[in-house]
Amino acid sequence: MTRKMEIDGVEVAFSEGETVLEVAQRHEKEIPTLCYDPRLEPFGGCRLCIVELEGARNPVASCTTKATPGMVIRTTTDTIEAYRETLLEMVVGENREVDVSPLRGYAAGELADLRDKYDVSSTGITGAKSGTNKTDDNPFILRDYELCISCYRCVRVCAEQEGDHAINVMNRGFHTQITTEFDGLLKDSACTFCGQCIQTCPTGALADKKALRAVDAVGDAIPDKTRTICPYCGVGCSIDVLTKDERIIGIHPAMDGPANQGALCVKGQFAYDFVHHPDRLKTPLIRGEDGELHEASWEDALDKAAEGFRKVNAKHGRHSIYGVASGRAPSEAAYLMQKFIRVGFGTNYIDNCSRA
Ligand code: SF4
Ligand code: SF4
Ligand code: FES
Repeated sequence: MTRKMEIDGVEVAFSEGETVLEVAQRHEKEIPTLCYDPRLEPFGGCRLCIVELEGARNPVASCTTKATPGMVIRTTTDTIEAYRETLLEMVVGENREVDVSPLRGYAAGELADLRDKYDVSSTGITGAKSGTNKTDDNPFILRDYELCISCYRCVRVCAEQEGDHAINVMNRGFHTQITTEFDGLLKDSACTFCGQCIQTCPTGALADKKALRAVDAVGDAIPDKTRTICPYCGVGCSIDVLTKDERIIGIHPAMDGPANQGALCVKGQFAYDFVHHPDRLKTPLIRGEDGELHEASWEDALDKAAEGFRKVNAKHGRHSIYGVASGRAPSEAAYLMQKFIRVGFGTNYIDNCSRA
């Protein structure tokens, strides 16, 4: 059965379980959001996504309201826009800084973008402020809670996506604070430093410390982004590598990455220093008669490796050789690797590190 509702005077179809926001976004309606992250269960905290629902006394949050047949929704009216403006004015007025560096995190500019769209001033509503910064000597995550708007995206992504529950909410009202168990340091908590809380934070309250170190060198300019695949394990997470003058200054997870949908582990998120490390090997090395490693050509190095394989095979037999292919190798290379082991040495001792 086709389910139908009306949005801004147009009849649209929807599927069971969809929210009003999801249906509206599918029909290219622009509804502002702050506490919403499409990967997470709807929360309904910021109320910015309110819409008019015919027959309802008050506007409803479109992110938490399920679409039902016959619903009549208006996404943009003068009253709704005035509510949104006031809500934003309160949020912006409470924040020490709204124009944050884009290097803080993937979503760090969301609040500033909405402030600009609604032309809201930071001096409109002033008063008490919430959130206390946490000095935290971990190398990865800045916890600048004076910029926090209590959207709880960080808490929810940590629980729902990472399954970690390393952070939670303490107190209420102006004393609301995102914290760890016993209000301790992140490094002493269950945090795996996956960085997902940084990347979902819409204000930059949580920020990528490593990327921010690059601000001095590159300024606040938006860096170049290159879509690629994380070089570590076999999952194949999509990432956007941030570069300036051909140097990597940070990593953003690809929210549309088919394997990861915005999730990364600590290695994919932060462990990119090896790329520019001065000790990184750039040519093969062969140990000489003197016991030292010497630079060599690829041809000589491959000959040497082949000679080693032949010697081991001749002395200890075919089961002394075991091949482990990289989980990051393309199918063709994986195929050749198993041929090399099976046909070259006559053993089935071949595996793949994706199992790890
Ligand atoms: S730290 Fe960021 S993501 Fe977490 S509640 Fe505050 S504003 Fe939201
Ligand atoms: S880095 Fe990952 S595990 Fe740590 S608090 Fe953030 S989301 Fe949770
Ligand atoms: S986005 Fe719907 S209430 Fe925040």
